[in-house]
Amino acid sequence: MAQTFELDTLRMRLCDAGLQSLDLHQRIQRALRALALEGVLAPGLKLPATRTLALSLGVARDTVENAYEQLHRDGFIVRRQGSGSYVSGSLGARLHGATAGRLHVPAPAPDVTPADPGAGLSLRGRAVLASGGVSDQQQARPFATGLPETRTFPCDIWLRLQRQVMGDHRAQALLHGDPQGARPLREAIAAYLNLERGARVSADQVLVLSSTRQALFLCAQLLADAGGAIAVEDPGYAGARKAFESAQVRTVPVAVDGQGLRTDLLRAGRSGASCVYVTPSHQYPTGATLSLQRRLELIGWAAEGGRWILEDDYDSEFHYDGLPTACVQGLDTQGRTLYIGTFGKTLFPGLRVGYMALPAQLVQAFTHARSILDGHTPPLTQLTLARFMQDGHYNAHVRAMRKLYARRQQAMAQAVAEHLQGIVTVPLPRGGMQLPCFLEPGWTEEKTVRQAAAAGLRLQGLSRLYQGGMPRQGWLLGYAAMTDHEIATAVQQLRHAIAP
Ligand SMILES: Cc1ncc(COP(=O)(O)O)c(C=O)c1O
Repeated sequence: MAQTFELDTLRMRLCDAGLQSLDLHQRIQRALRALALEGVLAPGLKLPATRTLALSLGVARDTVENAYEQLHRDGFIVRRQGSGSYVSGSLGARLHGATAGRLHVPAPAPDVTPADPGAGLSLRGRAVLASGGVSDQQQARPFATGLPETRTFPCDIWLRLQRQVMGDHRAQALLHGDPQGARPLREAIAAYLNLERGARVSADQVLVLSSTRQALFLCAQLLADAGGAIAVEDPGYAGARKAFESAQVRTVPVAVDGQGLRTDLLRAGRSGASCVYVTPSHQYPTGATLSLQRRLELIGWAAEGGRWILEDDYDSEFHYDGLPTACVQGLDTQGRTLYIGTFGKTLFPGLRVGYMALPAQLVQAFTHARSILDGHTPPLTQLTLARFMQDGHYNAHVRAMRKLYARRQQAMAQAVAEHLQGIVTVPLPRGGMQLPCFLEPGWTEEKTVRQAAAAGLRLQGLSRLYQGGMPRQGWLLGYAAMTDHEIATAVQQLRHAIAP
């Protein structure tokens, strides 16, 4: 520690890049503060008089006076009438671990990675950490799964509607919103679900959320106790599994076949599950559609045991073979189904708007939970989306995207048949945004994923979506965000990467 004040040390510190945008007195004050915190200026050290320092630095005396005054107010220096200014002695005590005094000295940043990143976390915190989180596709790269085409989104219409909303609602649109969601949007969602998805809901049952994941997180919190169980499809959506396991709820895998979830296995199981999570329209990742018979069995299973069905209808709009099957919620006369939808697939993922259609008895609890979690979805976004739906743009966009993705599915299936023959088999789903490809014997997922990565192609492996039993090897190839040309090129690149 310096026992005398060294002007050069201060001069050098004043040149720090981080200080250059500040006023001169702030720069001097910050530089002296940093030197005192680092112990370069020892506690008790006498600082030069303001006039002396001002002359040395070539600045006005007031500038130094302002800096010293701020340091004094913050407790970094003491000023003694007739004697001068000194680095605070209590700073030394603080730097050595004492707690008294009014200084706030930031703790030094740890310079090593902690051996146990879970240290200090609750059991639930550790479960969240262990889940590894959910990683989203932030780039529209080849084969990205679940990613819609965003390049042709009608941004001009959206902007026009947003301006209208701003003009009509003014400051009201800037306030907090209803935690259940803006009424016009809830009405638009209910009308859409009843007409297009065969649901039976009123606007009072709709809860607007940020995403499907938020819905699943709330379900885990409100419908299952820690140590309880939720049945999930196997293979299935990892995001759902992580939401449940993060709440310390066990996930019980139930196998899937060509007709979706094996309801016979669900019935036979003795897991004590309070809920079942299903993707009935296009099972994720196999693409299978849950048969009507099984939908009815599912409802029976839930009704008998006072259980809940969590129906994730994430991409049902993209059905290419006739109309999509009506949702389970609409068939369920027992009120045991929680319907979950998202605009992240039909519009764009950055929108962050999803929703639930809830049994009436659950609305209050879920709305309270949402109010605790993050309050509500931004009113401006909700009201713009409501207009987008009311004015017919939503249905028009979904129709256009359905046509586009149907063509892209064909393009992907053709390219795979042409270039990956003998390497994968592809059961063509009746809809969706990605194609499951199962590897033929002799090919391994681990190796092909590695080879593809070396060629700059990131593949979503299928086996990691399995929880129990015998995972099948393969990949899930997203196509919705790729043009026909991009699809053909990427599949050829993939072929060269794995079988040159
Ligand atoms: C089955 C399934 N549900 C939900 C989602 C995510 O929806 P959100 O972004 O609204 O959470 C995905 C994402 O790919 C998914 O595959």
